[in-house]
Amino acid sequence: MQTNLEKIRAEAESELAAAKDAADIERWRNKFLGRKDGAVVQILRGLAQMPIDERKAVGEAANSLKVALEAALATKEDAAKREALAGQPESSKVDVTLPGVQPAIGRYHPITQTMREIVGAFSSMGFQAVEGPEVEIDYYNFEALNIPKGHPARDMFDTFWVDYKNDKGERAMLLRTHTSPMQIRVMEKQKPPVRVVVSGKVFRYEATDATHESIFHQVEGLAVDDNLSLADLKGTLYEFARRLFGADRKVRFRCDYFPFVEPGVDMAIDCFNCGGQGCRICKETGWLEIMGAGMVHPSVLERVGYDSKQYTGLAFGIGVERVAMLKYGIDDIRHFYANDMRFLRQF
Ligand code: DAH
Repeated sequence: MQTNLEKIRAEAESELAAAKDAADIERWRNKFLGRKDGAVVQILRGLAQMPIDERKAVGEAANSLKVALEAALATKEDAAKREALAGQPESSKVDVTLPGVQPAIGRYHPITQTMREIVGAFSSMGFQAVEGPEVEIDYYNFEALNIPKGHPARDMFDTFWVDYKNDKGERAMLLRTHTSPMQIRVMEKQKPPVRVVVSGKVFRYEATDATHESIFHQVEGLAVDDNLSLADLKGTLYEFARRLFGADRKVRFRCDYFPFVEPGVDMAIDCFNCGGQGCRICKETGWLEIMGAGMVHPSVLERVGYDSKQYTGLAFGIGVERVAMLKYGIDDIRHFYANDMRFLRQF
């Protein structure tokens, strides 16, 4: 009996190898694996007449033959399908039964993600998101923000000037050094109450190092209304810090100077790495500065035609790269723009 099975196996294998088309394969299937009188089925049926001690061994052998033949058949069918496709012109080589090719899925750059998160935190507090031009004129970037020509604060902003001169022969166009000029543009167009956030690229003519890039991003905020006070500024920024850095963040405000606000402050959060004990990330201070802010200077309000006796404003400017570096523990700003996919895929 066993030799009979071996014979069937050998015969089946050679006939399958010789099968040339779908019809050959179908005939082969009937002959060996057919349900009614295929070779394997006949053997299984014969088991009943066999002496009991032979039954088990023959049954097992017949079953494993069946499994082997089914596997050989599947392989053959697959090969036949590929061969059939290969013979066709390129355009019709589509087998809808083959598994699809998964397209690579893109993602937002970590800076874009962080910027959206910052803007999202403020828009849920009622701020409207706007954008503005990257090429600015001197008036909006400096003059209207209380930084006239010759003002020492211009030194804070190393500027890329556009090679264009106005009627007076002055360079009057530049790449914006901050997003603050949009404060003026927004207020010129609209009466209070104002509540906007401005996100985008800014440019500074400076050497690149671990914490400086000549192109980076800011999110600016401005609110103008009756009765806004420093308490509103603090409350708003506190809420923002909790949203981005977690519920038990502490914040610290210290006096700072920016010509377009009075008083001016800088805001820091307690270091999330060491909890304020002092570590490498916070340079042993326990605090991380994340933005400049303040109450809009009355003369800035007057310049756009707002009555500074009736209205007050709060403003802030957040460095997006700085926030992203703190949030993700990144120690060099240049990683963001090196386009190393191993870095970018982590976000
Ligand atoms: N524009 C400032 C800078 O780039 C940041 C800033 C400080 C913006 C104070 C503000 C503010 O709106 O009130 O350094």
